[in-house]
Amino acid sequence: MTSTETRTMSLTLNIWRQRDRTKKGKMVTYHVTDVSPDMSFLEMLDVLNEKLILEDDDPIAFDHDCREGICGSCGVMIDGIAHGPEQTATCQLHMRSFKDGDVLDIEPWRSGGFPVVKDLAVDRSAFDRIISAAGFISAPTGTAPDAHATPVPKNDSDAAFDAATCIGCGACVAACPNGSAMLFTAAKVAHLGLMPQGQPERDSRVLKMVAQQDAEDFGGCSNIGECSAVCPKGISMETISRLNHDLLGALRAGAVPSS
Ligand code: SF4
Ligand code: FES
Repeated sequence: MTSTETRTMSLTLNIWRQRDRTKKGKMVTYHVTDVSPDMSFLEMLDVLNEKLILEDDDPIAFDHDCREGICGSCGVMIDGIAHGPEQTATCQLHMRSFKDGDVLDIEPWRSGGFPVVKDLAVDRSAFDRIISAAGFISAPTGTAPDAHATPVPKNDSDAAFDAATCIGCGACVAACPNGSAMLFTAAKVAHLGLMPQGQPERDSRVLKMVAQQDAEDFGGCSNIGECSAVCPKGISMETISRLNHDLLGALRAGAVPSS
């Protein structure tokens, strides 16, 4: 092989196919050839879909948008690992992480809280409802210079920024044996609760968001840590400790969620 030739791979893909949430799904086997290691995982699925369309077959539905690791739209289980073998969003995973001849099982997020829409695409509107419950502030923050005029301890602003990097992908739920959404909810609670602007609703926010999380079909958190291990943004288990701290504080204070 000359230095200008590119090594390509052939893979066998066992992909979950499900027409809609009311139908039973099953794994279907596909073979892909001439896969460049420089392709992203989603580009590899694009190539497979082009082939399926040319063969008058139904393309595989999967979620994606930015393909830059920013929006949180993408996400599949690859060989039982949320987002696959690298700790990154599926759209940032490249085929160089696999080798020629690999057999991969590709499935949607598995959780009662994320019903399958079609194939690998799931409904993550439960996350929107958790945010809508109280994931906002009412304090007028003004323009950027006004916000900068409010002193914030560096440790708090750093921790708030880290929590705010959560892209809402749902890998934490998919990885959790309990199907818990605790890491997501904790990130959304922490990034507001650590800032001065988030203090007025701090107690009622955590109560409402946890209540909404419980109302959705997610499991409870038992601090296993699979969520953090697959999180593409590295949201830490400490974030869950912050949520529990805030939750206990609100319950001890007898806080009543404000409407
Ligand atoms: S906490 Fe991490 S894994 Fe969970 S939704 Fe946010 S970015 Fe995704
Ligand atoms: S497509 Fe936006 S994070 Fe993957």
